[in-house]
Amino acid sequence: MTLAIIGGGMIGSAVAWRAVAAGLDVVLSNSREPSTLAGLAASLGARAAFAAEAALAADVVVAAIPVSAFGKLPARALAGKIVVDTANYYPERDGHLAELDSGALTSSELLQRHLPSSTVVKGFNAITPHQIGTLARPAGAADRSALPIAGEAGAKAEVARLLDRLGFDAADAGVLAESWRAEPGTPAYILPYLGEGGGVPRLDGRDAGRARPGRAGGGAAGLGGPAAGGGGAAAPAVSRVRSPRAPAPRASAARRWPGPAGRARRPRPPRP
Ligand SMILES: NC(=O)c1ccc[n+]([C@@H]2O[C@H](COP(=O)([O-])OP(=O)(O)OC[C@H]3O[C@@H](n4cnc5c(N)ncnc54)[C@H](OP(=O)(O)O)[C@@H]3O)[C@@H](O)[C@H]2O)c1
Repeated sequence: MTLAIIGGGMIGSAVAWRAVAAGLDVVLSNSREPSTLAGLAASLGARAAFAAEAALAADVVVAAIPVSAFGKLPARALAGKIVVDTANYYPERDGHLAELDSGALTSSELLQRHLPSSTVVKGFNAITPHQIGTLARPAGAADRSALPIAGEAGAKAEVARLLDRLGFDAADAGVLAESWRAEPGTPAYILPYLGEGGGVPRLDGRDAGRARPGRAGGGAAGLGGPAAGGGGAAAPAVSRVRSPRAPAPRASAARRWPGPAGRARRPRPPRP
């Protein structure tokens, strides 16, 4: 299986690393020339290509880019492909988009609109890059974590198979219109993975990653948050101490996540 990853940043690299470890053929791309990714791709065991080339070569594509870059994806090359959308909408970073601010559309529905001939599945958006590395487990492991995915049923089944190869179960989060239920500010976003063994080293004000000077940050609700971003101000490190007697709540909490498919949409939580 060839997996294309468009976006060679934190999430793209983490998914690429897991995918290579799982024996997948991985093609990595960013917004620039492949030579800008050559070192990273080589260190991960992947190859670098232009985004359109990567898309054409792939069975499944992971778009690990900001919402603000959706319109620049190579729609023609992505036609007919399943595109896994890792993005979380942060107006401070992405600019305000009225349909997303009002909750009329989820960001994955917006991506689907940009890619009418592709099938978008929301995935990898509710976990940090660090935890993609630390929480992967073999199938059947008692402490395996589940990641929420949302979209069309057939495409979700394919993405669930991909997650399984990468070390995760899938939790059905319904259709794209319901994908907001595992976005920033919801209980399903990042928090289920902060249990034993999954602690993140630092939360810097973007999802849980580095902050870039000059850019406002996003941030996990209550874990640094948008206010901490932009100037590189770091929230306190988060760590968990393993208790030998306490059962790990993380994996079971993630697997029990209800995936409330079929219910009417509720107003989205207010954004900061
Ligand atoms: N970091 C987290 O903890 C986390 C967790 C869950 C979800 N997410 C979401 O996942 C997405 C990616 O996050 P990240 O932290 O990996 O971001 P990041 O480290 O800033 O990386 C973004 C990547 O996207 C690439 N990119 C931007 N525009 C592009 C375009 N038009 N075509 C191809 N590639 C393009 C960038 O390439 P260049 O270097 O060439 O600009 C860069 O490699 C975001 O929407 C974020 O909200 C992040």
